[in-house]
Amino acid sequence: MTTAVQAPKAGGSDGHAAIAARARQVVKAYGSGETRVMALDGVDVDIARGRFTAIMGPSGSGKSTLMHCLAGLDSVTSGEIFIDETEITGLREKKLTQLRRDRIGFIFQAFNLLPTLNALENITLPMDIAGRKPDQAWLDQVVDTVGLSGRLKHRPTELSGGQQQRVAVARALAARPEIIFGDEPTGNLDSRAGAEVLGFLRRSVDELGQTIVMVTHDPVAAGYADRVVFLADGRIVDEMYEPSAETVLDRMKAFDARGRVS
Ligand SMILES: Nc1ncnc2c1ncn2[C@@H]1O[C@H](COP(=O)(O)OP(=O)(O)OP(=O)(O)O)[C@@H](O)[C@H]1O
Ligand SMILES: [Mg+2]
Repeated sequence: MTTAVQAPKAGGSDGHAAIAARARQVVKAYGSGETRVMALDGVDVDIARGRFTAIMGPSGSGKSTLMHCLAGLDSVTSGEIFIDETEITGLREKKLTQLRRDRIGFIFQAFNLLPTLNALENITLPMDIAGRKPDQAWLDQVVDTVGLSGRLKHRPTELSGGQQQRVAVARALAARPEIIFGDEPTGNLDSRAGAEVLGFLRRSVDELGQTIVMVTHDPVAAGYADRVVFLADGRIVDEMYEPSAETVLDRMKAFDARGRVS
């Protein structure tokens, strides 16, 4: 899949426009003594701006932990995480909360929509909370791109799973965050709805210059990305550019053969 090179987005620092986030020697340990688990064991990774990066690896390899640490949702045991030029490791909770609110978008497997709000209200909720007015032209473009124009007054219970997830995607995009993080964002969808959401994420990268990091188990989903980073036992063990479902699947089988993937 080819991608047009996008101009750095407003808010990005031009000198470091190419890297949206980076991890340096990140270690994340849970527990202590015999129950100590090294969820991340010295991870270095650069996340390219305006690109779609997938994180893959077997269950328990540290994918969610890496994403949570990169997004400032979880603390690290040691090492550094930067969002653009801001080192977030060491930020106090208040500053971190502010940074997450203002600069990062999330799409979770459970859509986390509020049932009492309609689709449009759900989409603009983070901006409402932050006291920011949505840019109407941008909002229209996002809503149009996700194909929700006719559904904005519907509550989540009146929407299909795919439509709910598209609301969650629109909510993440509407505030124009520097980075969107998704943990299995299509994990709860059937293949058709999943393809819709993935196609939309792809377009938001190509047409809107969005930066996306997505954790997935699914080679088909990873095939939408520009790059796949493979984790095993808390370490980055491989990466692949311009992946396709087939090449990702082959790589996963190769890991299997070496006994590295459960
Ligand atoms: N809160 C926690 N306390 C203790 N151990 C944890 C905790 N969270 C994660 N772990 C451990 O850290 C390791 C990495 O977990 P993580 O959730 O990042 O894996 P994952 O690659 O996302 O797996 P999956 O594909 O199943 O979602 C696992 O061994 C897990 O058991
Ligand atoms: Mg996980």
